[in-house]
Amino acid sequence: MSGTRTFTMIKPDAVKAGNSGAILKMIEEAGFRIVAMKLTKLSPEKAGEFYAVHKERPFYGELVEYMSSGPIIAAILEKDNAVEDFRKLIGATNPAEAEPGTVRALYGTSIGENAIHGADSDENAAREGSFHFAQVEMF
Ligand code: RTP
Ligand code: MG
Repeated sequence: MSGTRTFTMIKPDAVKAGNSGAILKMIEEAGFRIVAMKLTKLSPEKAGEFYAVHKERPFYGELVEYMSSGPIIAAILEKDNAVEDFRKLIGATNPAEAEPGTVRALYGTSIGENAIHGADSDENAAREGSFHFAQVEMF
């Protein structure tokens, strides 16, 4: 069993469409406990910093613009095997290829606007959690 925490963001398209509640319900029903959560908005600078790993990718500019286009919900979640199980719950990056019943299959609209983020490793989950929650050690 690997780490017990992951980090997520419900992305601007899903918040704008009014799907936050339905997505949070799916997350809780899948057995994740919400450890920390906030509605916030990323500046283009902050979005760029968050996704700095993709700086050289062709979609980086679009990604930064999209992620700073409206409110998001950032959260730290807890469950056994959190990172891997959460990636399964959200589905493939491209909603058209995501398993039926996953968050992205249900609520994503395109490979760019795919409703939700999930950390891809324990290290990144910890780094991303600290990026959004200054006092993450409290939780
Ligand atoms: P995320 O980090 O948001 O959980 O998504 P992911 O691991 O499934 O995918 P990743 O490769 O890390 O890509 C980050 C986000 O960039 C946007 N993207 N657009 N237009 C494109 O070809 C493209 N590819 C990726 C998506 O919003 C993706 O979630
Ligand atoms: Mg990723």
